[in-house]
Amino acid sequence: MPMPHAPSRTTERLDHDYDGIRRAARLLQQGGLVAFGTETVYGLGGLATSPHTVERIFQAKGRPSSNPLICHFATADAAFAEIDETAPLYEMARSLAKAFWPGPLTLILPRHAESRICPAATAGLKTLAIRVPKGRAVEELLQHVGQPIAAPSANRSGRVSPSQASHVLEELDGRIDAVLDTGPCAVGVESTVLDLTGTQPILRRPGGITLEALEGLCGPINVADHMSAHSQPNAPGQAASHYAPSLPVRLNATHLSPGEAFLTFGDYIAEGAAPALNVNLSLEGNVEEAAHRLFAALRQIDRSAARHNLTAIAVAPLPHDGLGRALQDRLKRAAAPRPA
Ligand code: TXA
Ligand code: MG
Repeated sequence: MPMPHAPSRTTERLDHDYDGIRRAARLLQQGGLVAFGTETVYGLGGLATSPHTVERIFQAKGRPSSNPLICHFATADAAFAEIDETAPLYEMARSLAKAFWPGPLTLILPRHAESRICPAATAGLKTLAIRVPKGRAVEELLQHVGQPIAAPSANRSGRVSPSQASHVLEELDGRIDAVLDTGPCAVGVESTVLDLTGTQPILRRPGGITLEALEGLCGPINVADHMSAHSQPNAPGQAASHYAPSLPVRLNATHLSPGEAFLTFGDYIAEGAAPALNVNLSLEGNVEEAAHRLFAALRQIDRSAARHNLTAIAVAPLPHDGLGRALQDRLKRAAAPRPA
């Protein structure tokens, strides 16, 4: 992977106690880059109002500047202060926020003409992705900072998202100012991204809040078809290949070839060769547990590749509804052809 130049610095490890949270908040207020756990995955945070800080976020991740960032807020009112209240779906957005925030739901809306978020954070778009994350430490942190925090997932661009502080350090040690260790993330996959910029809601990314739960509140929701090879991604982060471990990934495996690691679920057993490494996402067949473990499992298999002479990761058939939709999406992207 090409390594864009970023100055080397010492990355502080902070505990999620009072002092650690205060230190993390201070660094953020001063324009630093601080990774922290949310209920979904670890975010790489920085002041969304500072062009310099936002540029450092893109640099540290090696992320194309055309891919916009989600802004994180302590409260719904702070988030909606950045939004154009004449948007057709503004009231729907308010109701969704009331029902699901703090929680793993991101809303994309037209930005307010006087929004303080710097244009680079939204890649120059007239829209803004807002989110109020859940978790004692991240909620306290955002309250202390009192400013909008832009935070993409704290991984190098195109790689698997981090669900533990150690995952962040594997890819960003020396490239960010600090990581606030808030333990393993409760949900384990990213927030659901719902596009409310038009007159009908569109699901852009399945995630921690299920489509079924959203439809219970707003009726039928269109699902963006960005997985199709022919569709034009709405944003580069929705490109087909993403969330990629180093090993190739093969989905819906009913038959194993020699050298394949098997990422399985429940009591599913494949035919063919014995797995070179067997990792079960949830012995009990619980989809929440599987989501919680997914990214750590992909990293674990990658780390064991040399020791077990692995050639690929074969994935068992997984559920399609509820959180299964997010699992299927992340694994499909992990399996998609990689850019050269
Ligand atoms: O759970 C999450 O959402 C995590 C935690 C840290 O909050 N964040 C996260 O950010 O997953 P990131 O940057 O890895 O993914 C954000 C996605 C990208 O696909 C991006 O293209 C899309 O949201 N996005 C952000 N702003 C957008 C906008 N204005 N219009 C369309 N898509 C947008
Ligand atoms: Mg990401």
